[in-house]
Amino acid sequence: MDPIVVVNPTAIAPGGEPLSLLVLHGPNLNLLGVREVGIYGSVSLEQIDQALHRQAEMLGAKLEILQSNHEGVLIDAIHRAHQQHVGILINPGAHTHTSIALRDAIAAVGLPTVEVHLSNIHRREPFRQHSYIAAVAIGQISGFGAQSYLLGLQALVQHLRLQSV
Ligand code: DQA
Repeated sequence: MDPIVVVNPTAIAPGGEPLSLLVLHGPNLNLLGVREVGIYGSVSLEQIDQALHRQAEMLGAKLEILQSNHEGVLIDAIHRAHQQHVGILINPGAHTHTSIALRDAIAAVGLPTVEVHLSNIHRREPFRQHSYIAAVAIGQISGFGAQSYLLGLQALVQHLRLQSV
């Protein structure tokens, strides 16, 4: 099994109400653990989600997590997040490289968003090296396997907490 580490950074200590965050996984990420293991690793999406929940608890955040193979479902979730959440963590999968609609949805709701990828998309095929999402995200974490999600969550929580001081 690939290592997946849950960290407890005291620098982002929780305080008050938990931050409510939306986590989105795009198409084909439901197949993590069996899909192109040499690129994406052997950790399943369920294991990633469990680690995210544990990490969120330590960071003083609570998560709604959704995976969909359908662009419109992801867009609807982003629209709903406008009322329900204060930030978004997203691995848009292949939509990263194709979806102006997903980018527009993130821009429309204006919630701080962190883009994550298991693989380093900048070292891969040319068509993966452009992200439509990057320009509307606070930042992108790419290439750390399943750990990218946890790093992305830490970055998002830290950004939100620093914003509110
Ligand atoms: C991915 C990279 C994308 O290019 C690809 O289409 C995916 C996964 C990643 O996490 O490395 O589905 O987003």
